[in-house]
Amino acid sequence: MSKEILLLSGPNLDQLGTRSPEIYGTQTLAEHVNRFSEQAELDGFSVRHVQSNFEGDLIEAAHAARSTSVAIVINAGALTHTSWALTDALAMFSGVKVEVHLSNPAAREPFRHVSTLAGVVNGSIAGFGPASYDLALEAVQRLLAAQQ
Ligand code: DQA
Repeated sequence: MSKEILLLSGPNLDQLGTRSPEIYGTQTLAEHVNRFSEQAELDGFSVRHVQSNFEGDLIEAAHAARSTSVAIVINAGALTHTSWALTDALAMFSGVKVEVHLSNPAAREPFRHVSTLAGVVNGSIAGFGPASYDLALEAVQRLLAAQQ
């Protein structure tokens, strides 16, 4: 059976494609997810994607992943900067965790400079546009390989 990666997408990411394209580019979330999933499947993983504009949905998906997934890749959107509840949920997941952002929050408004998630993930990839997702998948693979 293939190993599952949970790809989590937070608020407003469902609007990618038309949302601030000068910052986030013109690709839709479905395009990012499809590319990520296709590459992951070539590498022997299955991908479950959950997008929600509601914090609790993301928290429950992280809980469920404890019994289904080997890794979580998360773009929490603005919840990155505010959600200690999502951070606590991720902390309970003992598999590989990679935070991902299309833009580079550290180079943007001050409120984006803090990531509540940063302390509970293995690492963060930010600022590479669509390639951030490709790099996040590579990070997952390397971290899992290092565990074997
Ligand atoms: C984002 C960066 C966040 O600051 C922002 O709130 C988003 C998208 C990114 O992918 O660059 O919604 O996570």
